[in-house]
Amino acid sequence: MSITILGIESSCDDTAAAVVRDGFMLSNIIAGQDVHKRYGGVVPEIASREHQANIVPVTDMAISSAGIDPSGIDAIAYTRGPGLLGSLLVGSSFAKGLSLSLGVPLIEVNHLPAHILVHFIKDVEEERSFPGFPFLALVVSGGHTQLVIVRDHLEMEIIGETTDDAAGEAFDKCAKVMGLDYPGGPLIDRLAKDGDGSAFSFNIPVVDGLDFSFSGLKTSFLYSLRKWVSENPDFVESNINDLSASIQSAIVKILTAKLMRASEQTGIREIVLAGGVAANSGLRRSLMAISAEKGWRLYLPDLKFTTDNAAMIAITGYYKYLKGDFSSLGVSPMSRFPI
Ligand code: KG4
Ligand code: ZN
Repeated sequence: MSITILGIESSCDDTAAAVVRDGFMLSNIIAGQDVHKRYGGVVPEIASREHQANIVPVTDMAISSAGIDPSGIDAIAYTRGPGLLGSLLVGSSFAKGLSLSLGVPLIEVNHLPAHILVHFIKDVEEERSFPGFPFLALVVSGGHTQLVIVRDHLEMEIIGETTDDAAGEAFDKCAKVMGLDYPGGPLIDRLAKDGDGSAFSFNIPVVDGLDFSFSGLKTSFLYSLRKWVSENPDFVESNINDLSASIQSAIVKILTAKLMRASEQTGIREIVLAGGVAANSGLRRSLMAISAEKGWRLYLPDLKFTTDNAAMIAITGYYKYLKGDFSSLGVSPMSRFPI
Protein backbone atom coordinates (compact mmCIF):
# COMPACT_ATOMS: atom_id res chain seq x y z
CA MET A 1 0.00 0.00 0.00
CA SER A 2 1.43 3.39 -0.88
CA ILE A 3 1.62 6.29 1.58
CA THR A 4 0.94 9.86 0.46
CA ILE A 5 1.95 12.76 2.70
CA LEU A 6 1.04 16.43 2.26
CA GLY A 7 3.71 18.67 3.81
CA ILE A 8 3.09 22.26 4.97
CA GLU A 9 5.93 24.69 5.80
CA SER A 10 5.50 28.26 7.12
CA SER A 11 8.27 28.77 9.69
CA CYS A 12 9.76 31.98 8.32
CA ASP A 13 8.98 33.88 5.11
CA ASP A 14 8.27 31.07 2.62
CA THR A 15 4.82 29.54 2.34
CA ALA A 16 5.27 26.03 0.99
CA ALA A 17 3.30 22.84 0.35
CA ALA A 18 4.45 19.55 -1.19
CA VAL A 19 3.25 16.02 -1.80
CA VAL A 20 5.51 13.02 -1.27
CA ARG A 21 4.38 9.47 -2.06
CA ASP A 22 6.47 6.56 -0.74
CA GLY A 23 9.45 8.90 -0.54
CA PHE A 24 9.01 10.19 -4.12
CA MET A 25 8.34 13.90 -4.56
CA LEU A 26 5.16 14.50 -6.58
CA SER A 27 5.02 18.29 -6.12
CA ASN A 28 6.91 21.05 -4.34
CA ILE A 29 5.36 24.56 -4.38
CA ILE A 30 6.89 27.62 -2.69
CA ALA A 31 5.60 31.20 -2.48
CA GLY A 32 8.39 33.53 -1.34
CA GLN A 33 7.82 36.97 0.21
CA ASP A 34 9.79 39.67 -1.60
CA VAL A 35 8.02 42.32 0.46
CA HIS A 36 10.65 41.98 3.25
CA LYS A 37 13.48 43.21 1.00
CA ARG A 38 12.55 46.84 1.53
CA TYR A 39 12.84 46.44 5.32
CA GLY A 40 16.26 44.78 5.24
CA GLY A 41 15.01 41.65 7.03
CA VAL A 42 11.93 39.56 7.73
CA VAL A 43 9.13 41.52 9.46
CA PRO A 44 7.24 38.88 11.50
CA GLU A 45 3.82 40.58 11.35
CA ILE A 46 3.98 40.95 7.56
CA ALA A 47 5.23 37.35 7.18
CA SER A 48 2.16 36.02 9.05
CA ARG A 49 -0.21 38.04 6.85
CA GLU A 50 1.49 36.82 3.68
CA HIS A 51 1.26 33.19 4.86
CA GLN A 52 -2.44 33.74 5.51
CA ALA A 53 -2.93 34.96 1.95
CA ASN A 54 -0.76 32.27 0.32
CA ILE A 55 -1.40 29.07 2.21
CA VAL A 56 -4.65 28.03 0.53
CA PRO A 57 -3.54 28.64 -3.10
CA VAL A 58 -0.10 27.11 -2.48
CA THR A 59 -1.61 23.93 -0.96
CA ASP A 60 -4.20 23.77 -3.71
CA MET A 61 -1.45 23.96 -6.32
CA ALA A 62 0.66 21.32 -4.55
CA ILE A 63 -2.27 18.89 -4.56
CA SER A 64 -3.31 19.54 -8.16
CA SER A 65 0.20 19.49 -9.61
CA ALA A 66 0.87 16.20 -7.79
CA GLY A 67 -2.02 14.85 -9.88
CA ILE A 68 -3.85 13.55 -6.81
CA ASP A 69 -7.25 14.07 -5.25
CA PRO A 70 -7.37 15.37 -1.62
CA SER A 71 -8.98 12.05 -0.70
CA GLY A 72 -5.68 10.37 -1.68
CA ILE A 73 -3.78 12.08 1.19
CA ASP A 74 -2.92 9.72 4.07
CA ALA A 75 -1.53 12.28 6.54
CA ILE A 76 -0.63 15.95 6.87
CA ALA A 77 2.85 16.87 8.11
CA TYR A 78 3.48 20.45 9.19
CA THR A 79 6.32 22.47 10.72
CA ARG A 80 5.71 22.84 14.46
CA GLY A 81 8.95 24.81 14.98
CA PRO A 82 11.45 26.36 15.31
CA GLY A 83 10.55 29.63 13.63
CA LEU A 84 8.52 32.81 13.94
CA LEU A 85 5.51 32.08 16.11
CA GLY A 86 3.00 34.06 14.04
CA SER A 87 4.19 32.33 10.86
CA LEU A 88 4.09 28.87 12.47
CA LEU A 89 0.56 29.53 13.75
CA VAL A 90 -0.76 30.00 10.21
CA GLY A 91 0.68 26.70 8.92
CA SER A 92 -0.20 24.69 12.02
CA SER A 93 -3.79 25.98 12.25
CA PHE A 94 -4.29 25.31 8.55
CA ALA A 95 -2.80 21.80 8.81
CA LYS A 96 -5.05 21.01 11.79
CA GLY A 97 -8.17 22.24 9.99
CA LEU A 98 -7.33 20.24 6.88
CA SER A 99 -6.59 17.08 8.84
CA LEU A 100 -9.97 17.38 10.57
CA SER A 101 -11.85 17.98 7.35
CA LEU A 102 -10.10 15.13 5.48
CA GLY A 103 -10.21 12.82 8.50
CA VAL A 104 -6.46 12.02 8.28
CA PRO A 105 -3.75 12.07 10.97
CA LEU A 106 -1.56 15.05 11.72
CA ILE A 107 2.24 14.80 12.03
CA GLU A 108 4.34 17.54 13.66
CA VAL A 109 7.79 18.08 12.17
CA ASN A 110 10.89 19.83 13.48
CA HIS A 111 12.23 22.12 10.72
CA LEU A 112 15.92 21.37 11.41
CA PRO A 113 16.04 17.58 11.03
CA ALA A 114 13.76 18.12 8.03
CA HIS A 115 16.52 20.18 6.33
CA ILE A 116 18.76 17.10 6.67
CA LEU A 117 16.15 14.61 5.46
CA VAL A 118 15.85 16.27 2.01
CA HIS A 119 18.74 13.97 1.21
CA PHE A 120 16.27 11.05 1.27
CA ILE A 121 13.75 12.47 -1.19
CA LYS A 122 13.54 10.29 -4.26
CA ASP A 123 13.19 11.95 -7.62
CA VAL A 124 11.36 10.08 -10.37
CA GLU A 125 13.72 11.68 -12.87
CA GLU A 126 17.05 10.76 -11.36
CA GLU A 127 18.74 7.80 -9.64
CA ARG A 128 21.01 8.78 -6.78
CA SER A 129 22.58 7.30 -3.71
CA PHE A 130 21.52 8.17 -0.17
CA PRO A 131 23.74 8.86 2.84
CA GLY A 132 24.48 5.81 4.97
CA PHE A 133 24.03 5.86 8.77
CA PRO A 134 25.65 7.14 10.86
CA PHE A 135 26.49 10.35 9.02
CA LEU A 136 27.56 13.81 10.03
CA ALA A 137 25.37 16.74 8.94
CA LEU A 138 26.34 20.41 8.81
CA VAL A 139 23.10 22.40 8.95
CA VAL A 140 23.61 26.02 7.97
CA SER A 141 20.68 28.41 7.65
CA GLY A 142 19.60 31.95 8.48
CA GLY A 143 18.65 30.91 12.01
CA HIS A 144 20.87 27.91 12.79
CA THR A 145 24.35 26.48 12.47
CA GLN A 146 24.66 22.96 13.79
CA LEU A 147 26.76 19.83 13.57
CA VAL A 148 24.56 16.78 13.92
CA ILE A 149 25.26 13.05 14.14
CA VAL A 150 22.44 11.29 12.31
CA ARG A 151 22.06 7.67 13.44
CA ASP A 152 18.74 7.03 11.76
CA HIS A 153 16.08 9.10 9.94
CA LEU A 154 14.60 10.17 13.25
CA GLU A 155 17.54 9.73 15.62
CA MET A 156 19.83 12.75 15.70
CA GLU A 157 22.24 14.32 18.18
CA ILE A 158 23.58 17.86 18.04
CA ILE A 159 27.33 17.85 18.77
CA GLY A 160 28.10 21.48 17.98
CA GLU A 161 26.22 24.72 17.36
CA THR A 162 26.66 28.44 17.15
CA THR A 163 27.08 30.36 20.36
CA ASP A 164 25.81 33.59 18.77
CA ASP A 165 24.87 34.36 15.13
CA ALA A 166 24.05 31.71 12.53
CA ALA A 167 26.17 31.39 9.36
CA GLY A 168 23.36 32.78 7.17
CA GLU A 169 22.95 35.68 9.59
CA ALA A 170 26.68 36.42 9.29
CA PHE A 171 26.34 36.56 5.49
CA ASP A 172 23.22 38.73 5.70
CA LYS A 173 24.61 41.15 8.31
CA CYS A 174 27.92 41.64 6.47
CA ALA A 175 25.96 42.18 3.24
CA LYS A 176 23.87 44.84 4.98
CA VAL A 177 27.02 46.64 6.15
CA MET A 178 28.09 46.78 2.47
CA GLY A 179 24.68 48.25 1.54
CA LEU A 180 23.39 45.08 -0.17
CA ASP A 181 19.74 43.98 -0.12
CA TYR A 182 18.25 41.29 2.13
CA PRO A 183 18.91 38.38 2.03
CA GLY A 184 22.54 39.19 1.33
CA GLY A 185 23.93 35.62 1.34
CA PRO A 186 23.14 34.87 -2.32
CA LEU A 187 24.39 38.36 -3.36
CA ILE A 188 27.73 37.90 -1.58
CA ASP A 189 28.04 34.50 -3.27
CA ARG A 190 27.48 36.06 -6.70
CA LEU A 191 29.86 39.01 -6.12
CA ALA A 192 32.53 36.72 -4.64
CA LYS A 193 32.80 34.87 -7.95
CA ASP A 194 34.78 37.82 -9.39
CA GLY A 195 36.76 38.53 -6.24
CA ASP A 196 39.90 37.41 -4.44
CA GLY A 197 39.14 35.61 -1.16
CA SER A 198 42.56 36.42 0.27
CA ALA A 199 42.41 40.16 -0.48
CA PHE A 200 41.30 41.08 3.06
CA SER A 201 41.51 39.25 6.35
CA PHE A 202 39.35 39.58 9.44
CA ASN A 203 39.52 38.33 13.02
CA ILE A 204 38.28 34.77 13.18
CA PRO A 205 36.94 34.00 16.67
CA VAL A 206 38.43 31.01 18.48
CA VAL A 207 35.80 28.78 20.08
CA ASP A 208 36.52 25.56 21.95
CA GLY A 209 35.20 22.18 20.87
CA LEU A 210 32.70 21.84 18.06
CA ASP A 211 30.77 25.07 18.65
CA PHE A 212 30.82 28.02 16.26
CA SER A 213 30.90 31.79 16.67
CA PHE A 214 30.30 34.43 14.01
CA SER A 215 29.59 37.66 15.88
CA GLY A 216 33.29 38.53 16.33
CA LEU A 217 33.86 38.11 12.60
CA LYS A 218 30.92 40.39 11.83
CA THR A 219 32.24 43.04 14.24
CA SER A 220 35.74 42.79 12.79
CA PHE A 221 34.28 43.18 9.29
CA LEU A 222 32.23 46.21 10.38
CA TYR A 223 35.17 47.99 12.11
CA SER A 224 37.58 47.28 9.27
CA LEU A 225 35.09 48.61 6.75
CA ARG A 226 34.45 51.78 8.80
CA LYS A 227 38.17 52.49 8.91
CA TRP A 228 38.68 51.90 5.18
CA VAL A 229 35.63 53.99 4.24
CA SER A 230 36.84 56.88 6.42
CA GLU A 231 40.05 56.87 4.35
CA ASN A 232 38.27 56.37 1.02
CA PRO A 233 34.48 56.96 0.74
CA ASP A 234 34.30 54.80 -2.42
CA PHE A 235 36.06 51.88 -0.74
CA VAL A 236 33.10 49.49 -0.66
CA GLU A 237 32.03 50.20 -4.23
CA SER A 238 35.52 49.78 -5.64
CA ASN A 239 36.29 46.62 -3.63
CA ILE A 240 32.88 44.92 -3.47
CA ASN A 241 34.01 41.71 -5.19
CA ASP A 242 37.14 41.24 -3.07
CA LEU A 243 35.26 42.14 0.13
CA SER A 244 32.52 39.60 -0.70
CA ALA A 245 35.04 36.89 -1.56
CA SER A 246 37.03 37.58 1.63
CA ILE A 247 34.08 37.48 4.02
CA GLN A 248 32.73 34.37 2.28
CA SER A 249 36.11 32.71 2.56
CA ALA A 250 36.27 33.52 6.32
CA ILE A 251 32.78 32.06 6.96
CA VAL A 252 33.59 28.95 4.90
CA LYS A 253 36.85 28.47 6.85
CA ILE A 254 35.00 28.60 10.20
CA LEU A 255 32.44 26.05 9.01
CA THR A 256 34.82 23.61 7.36
CA ALA A 257 37.35 23.69 10.24
CA LYS A 258 34.69 22.52 12.73
CA LEU A 259 33.32 19.95 10.31
CA MET A 260 36.82 18.48 9.84
CA ARG A 261 37.31 18.37 13.60
CA ALA A 262 33.92 16.66 14.07
CA SER A 263 34.79 14.06 11.45
CA GLU A 264 38.13 13.36 13.14
CA GLN A 265 36.56 13.10 16.59
CA THR A 266 33.69 10.81 15.55
CA GLY A 267 35.50 8.89 12.84
CA ILE A 268 32.51 9.53 10.54
CA ARG A 269 33.38 10.28 6.91
CA GLU A 270 29.86 10.22 5.50
CA ILE A 271 29.14 13.96 5.29
CA VAL A 272 25.89 15.80 4.52
CA LEU A 273 25.35 19.52 3.95
CA ALA A 274 21.90 21.09 4.52
CA GLY A 275 20.07 24.42 4.96
CA GLY A 276 19.87 27.70 3.06
CA VAL A 277 23.63 28.41 3.19
CA ALA A 278 24.22 24.99 1.56
CA ALA A 279 23.56 26.88 -1.70
CA ASN A 280 26.81 28.81 -1.24
CA SER A 281 29.16 27.97 -4.09
CA GLY A 282 32.31 28.71 -2.07
CA LEU A 283 31.23 26.33 0.70
CA ARG A 284 30.28 23.61 -1.81
CA ARG A 285 33.61 23.97 -3.62
CA SER A 286 35.62 23.89 -0.44
CA LEU A 287 33.77 20.79 0.85
CA MET A 288 34.37 18.99 -2.44
CA ALA A 289 38.10 19.70 -2.20
CA ILE A 290 38.27 18.59 1.46
CA SER A 291 36.27 15.43 0.65
CA ALA A 292 38.70 14.46 -2.10
CA GLU A 293 41.61 14.95 0.31
CA LYS A 294 40.05 13.22 3.35
CA GLY A 295 38.22 10.44 1.53
CA TRP A 296 34.78 11.68 2.68
CA ARG A 297 31.60 10.67 0.94
CA LEU A 298 29.96 14.06 0.49
CA TYR A 299 26.26 14.70 -0.14
CA LEU A 300 25.42 18.21 -1.33
CA PRO A 301 21.72 19.05 -1.59
CA ASP A 302 20.12 19.92 -4.89
CA LEU A 303 19.79 23.73 -4.98
CA LYS A 304 15.98 23.56 -4.94
CA PHE A 305 16.22 21.83 -1.55
CA THR A 306 18.58 24.29 0.14
CA THR A 307 16.01 26.99 0.91
CA ASP A 308 12.93 26.36 3.00
CA ASN A 309 10.51 23.97 1.27
CA ALA A 310 7.71 21.61 2.19
CA ALA A 311 9.11 18.51 0.47
CA MET A 312 11.50 18.26 3.44
CA ILE A 313 8.53 18.41 5.82
CA ALA A 314 6.63 15.78 3.82
CA ILE A 315 9.60 13.35 3.69
CA THR A 316 10.11 13.71 7.46
CA GLY A 317 6.37 13.15 7.88
CA TYR A 318 6.69 10.01 5.78
CA TYR A 319 9.29 8.48 8.13
CA LYS A 320 7.22 9.47 11.18
CA TYR A 321 4.15 7.92 9.55
CA LEU A 322 6.04 4.63 9.11
CA LYS A 323 6.68 4.67 12.87
CA GLY A 324 3.09 5.63 13.71
CA ASP A 325 4.35 8.87 15.28
CA PHE A 326 1.27 11.12 15.04
CA SER A 327 0.32 14.39 16.76
CA SER A 328 -2.78 15.47 18.60
CA LEU A 329 -4.75 18.55 17.61
CA GLY A 330 -3.86 20.04 20.98
CA VAL A 331 -0.15 20.70 20.34
CA SER A 332 0.87 24.29 19.76
CA PRO A 333 3.72 25.67 17.63
CA MET A 334 7.09 26.26 19.28
CA SER A 335 9.36 29.14 18.27
CA ARG A 336 12.25 27.23 19.87
CA PHE A 337 12.05 23.52 19.27
CA PRO A 338 15.07 21.36 20.14
CA ILE A 339 15.76 18.26 18.02
O1 KG4 B 1 17.28 27.62 5.41
P1 KG4 B 1 16.88 28.99 4.97
O2 KG4 B 1 16.15 29.14 3.66
O3 KG4 B 1 15.96 29.67 6.04
C1 KG4 B 1 16.15 29.47 7.39
O4 KG4 B 1 15.64 28.45 7.92
O5 KG4 B 1 16.88 30.33 7.96
O6 KG4 B 1 18.21 29.88 4.96
C2 KG4 B 1 18.21 31.24 4.60
C3 KG4 B 1 19.63 31.76 4.72
C4 KG4 B 1 19.74 33.27 4.57
O7 KG4 B 1 20.57 33.77 5.61
C5 KG4 B 1 20.42 33.45 3.21
O8 KG4 B 1 21.22 34.61 3.11
C6 KG4 B 1 21.28 32.19 3.16
O9 KG4 B 1 20.46 31.18 3.71
N1 KG4 B 1 21.69 31.85 1.79
C7 KG4 B 1 22.95 31.93 1.34
C8 KG4 B 1 22.94 31.54 -0.03
N2 KG4 B 1 21.64 31.25 -0.37
C9 KG4 B 1 20.89 31.44 0.77
N3 KG4 B 1 24.10 32.27 1.98
C10 KG4 B 1 25.23 32.24 1.25
N4 KG4 B 1 25.29 31.90 -0.06
C11 KG4 B 1 24.17 31.55 -0.73
N5 KG4 B 1 24.25 31.20 -2.03
ZN1 ZN C 1 15.27 26.54 7.11
